[in-house]
Amino acid sequence: MVEIKELLPGRFERIGAHSHIRGLGLRGLKAELVADGMVGQTEAREAAGIVVRMIKEGKMAGRAVLLAGPPGTGKTAIAIAIAKELGPDVPVVMITGSEIYSEEVKKTEILTQVMRKAIGVRIHEMKKIYEGVVKSLDITMAKNPYNPYQQIPQSAKITIATKDESKTFEVGQTIAIRLINEGVSVGDVIMIDAETGRVTRIGKAESPDVKRYDIEAEKPVPVPMGPILKEKEFIYTLTLHDLDEINARRSSFSIFSIFGGGREEKEIEPEIRERVNQLVKNMVEEGRAEILPGVCFIDESHMLDIEAYSFIARAMESDLAPIIILASNRGITKIRGTELVSPHGMPLDLLDRLLIINTRPYNEEEIREILKIRAKEEKIEMEEEALEYLTQIGAKTSLRYAVQLLTPSMEHAREKGREKITKEDVQAVEKLFADVKRSANYVRSLEREFMISEPT
Ligand SMILES: Nc1ncnc2c1ncn2[C@@H]1O[C@H](COP(=O)(O)OP(=O)(O)OP(=O)(O)O)[C@@H](O)[C@H]1O
Ligand SMILES: [Mg+2]
Repeated sequence: MVEIKELLPGRFERIGAHSHIRGLGLRGLKAELVADGMVGQTEAREAAGIVVRMIKEGKMAGRAVLLAGPPGTGKTAIAIAIAKELGPDVPVVMITGSEIYSEEVKKTEILTQVMRKAIGVRIHEMKKIYEGVVKSLDITMAKNPYNPYQQIPQSAKITIATKDESKTFEVGQTIAIRLINEGVSVGDVIMIDAETGRVTRIGKAESPDVKRYDIEAEKPVPVPMGPILKEKEFIYTLTLHDLDEINARRSSFSIFSIFGGGREEKEIEPEIRERVNQLVKNMVEEGRAEILPGVCFIDESHMLDIEAYSFIARAMESDLAPIIILASNRGITKIRGTELVSPHGMPLDLLDRLLIINTRPYNEEEIREILKIRAKEEKIEMEEEALEYLTQIGAKTSLRYAVQLLTPSMEHAREKGREKITKEDVQAVEKLFADVKRSANYVRSLEREFMISEPT
């Protein structure tokens, strides 16, 4: 007997720091103490819940939110939860403040691109297509003019049928090649774009009289009805940035791309963006498109400088602006690029226009719950005493440090032949890995022996 072993699709398991966050954990607008992977921080979560509602109702346009609080208090976690709550229809783009600095591209260009990626355009298009099940397919091959030993498709004769109609077509080389590339065979339901000749294989046609015992997991599709040539509505979503790119590429197909092999344009001309905006506005007016304003989340916003801030403030005013969410763990500090000191290192006039959500440090109970959730997420088991000890560490140092010690503790436990983390394991790795304060004190105590970086 042959042995058949089913292979499960390989899962790429990388457990991100926020993989346990599934939403804001709200019932209505009220935060449950532990839900959706979220623990405590109830006011901030409830505020975030209101923001989600406002976004969904289109009442957030031109506004921005700031998540402000000490490190490790769940600002990034809440932003991710907001994205999850908004669902797949709302585009969300996440960057960190430092990502706007690059050698090749201007800061404002990067910010513009990020913001335009956060605005979706749902386009409705009517297309003329031929659609039906393939009844017969004859491909005529010919010698390749450049290589006589090779045969290439030259034309094809194809019969397509719906439940009501059957027609035979002669098609040229382009479509013949596409039919082969798409792997079309008799019995498949296909679609041919009448304008571009693009071939799409939809699937195997259902047939009532033939019982299939195929192992192939392909699900049969129904045979279309009505005429073969018809107009069909297609809906697809692109972002403003996608549209910019498409338009930029089309126009840069010039003499340069023939001689230079096409230079990759990093920046998109403002005129192209203007044209795209106009195009989108026209489509919206004609009822052929809808705009889906999304969210642009800029984490560690204190890395932005005064130019970036004023750019953002200006961009917020435009009518095609996404909702901006900033997060910062800085208190009163200098605005980058100036000598001015301001809360969260942010210009006052921008601060004035933000909805600010504060996150606060966690208490012991919350730390314990978060540790439990993280342990479960990482499939780590630990003894009650170990959890208690780790909770104390979290309360004394930081939540992040305590979370970080989970995996090393597990390694230590395994080395000792244990499947569960004990207090001893935690104590052992606590000695090996320093928390930030301990490391800073160590550096200070040995200041003379460390390399001193030269002031530049
Ligand atoms: N309320 C919470 N419920 C569950 N997990 C949380 C909560 N708050 C934080 N976490 C988790 O704790 C860790 C630290 O939180 P996070 O990275 O969100 O902090 P932060 O406020 O963004 O810090 P920073 O200012 O350093 O960027 C993450 O793994 C996060 O998923
Ligand atoms: Mg963060």
